[in-house]
Amino acid sequence: MSRKQKLIIDCDTGSDDAVALMTAVLSDRFDILAVTTTHGNLPVKYTTENTLRVLELLGRQDIPVYPGCNEGMVKLLTPGRMVNPKIKAISKVIDGKEVAFHDRYLDLPEAVTKPQAEHACSFLLRTLRETKEKIILAAFGPMTNIGMALRMDPSIAQNIEGIVVMGGGVHEANKSMAAESNFFNDPEAAKIVLECGAPVVVIPLDATNDVALSREDIAKIASSGTTAATFAAGLVLHALEAAELLGFSDNGKNGLHDPLTICFLLEPTVITDLRHCACDIDLGGGRADGQLLCDMRPGEKPTLPTYVAMRGDKDKYLSLLTHTLAKGR
Ligand code: BDR
Ligand code: CA
Repeated sequence: MSRKQKLIIDCDTGSDDAVALMTAVLSDRFDILAVTTTHGNLPVKYTTENTLRVLELLGRQDIPVYPGCNEGMVKLLTPGRMVNPKIKAISKVIDGKEVAFHDRYLDLPEAVTKPQAEHACSFLLRTLRETKEKIILAAFGPMTNIGMALRMDPSIAQNIEGIVVMGGGVHEANKSMAAESNFFNDPEAAKIVLECGAPVVVIPLDATNDVALSREDIAKIASSGTTAATFAAGLVLHALEAAELLGFSDNGKNGLHDPLTICFLLEPTVITDLRHCACDIDLGGGRADGQLLCDMRPGEKPTLPTYVAMRGDKDKYLSLLTHTLAKGR
């Protein structure tokens, strides 16, 4: 049997983050060294607690959780920077009830396990300096922790096998009219990661919305009846209902973003259009702040190993999720 690939997950759990975490753990294909938590969907206090709850649900309290940064590297310090774009609300009170994509706490028992005392950035720095084997990073929140570690010691990139990132949009956006939420919340960190020199695969909204899931798909995920499948399907359905109530979806489907990173690691052919191209991030502070820029002009030769996923195979994605989440109790 081939050796398990060493993996560190950096996330802002978060409902789709929770499904991605469960998929990574249950796949049994990774040696998950740690989960580092970041701001984004919620402040770090909640994303850390939610991460611990998910790991406990799967009986994987042995995976250490390192709390990370609670805001972007410099974004909030920059005068005149757009920090509150005109967006559709991601939560709203409808008929006296709050409807939100990401409830503050996942509906799971309070975690008994404590997070690690060491900060996520120092954990990343220490581990990536000391490792004898290259490590894969999967990042599905604002990449402040990884960006900071790379800033402290850029040479750690040599020990990164690859970074698979959910973020950005080539033709799509959600947080502002130009930017996706993870990249919007820490554009400098996204730029540092894209330019670190290690192979980076960006899974943007273009790919995740291409494999958006319907109610029928969600029922398929739930069909095994395992604890993970039932919990995951509930989260995905809740997100679809919230998307509809908040006016983000009118076609009966919703993009399940973060798990596509893990499914790509499990089965790269789940991405059907992966382009090697130069990437950049708008740091101008104006209306395009945090926008992912991809140079797809014919004849342009990228100098860095940055790849952008444009399309996916929905049936393969659904099948990977369904089979993996069917494992366990
Ligand atoms: C990304 O932002 C978060 O809300 C999700 O968890 C996902 O990582 C989608 O734009
Ligand atoms: Ca996320």
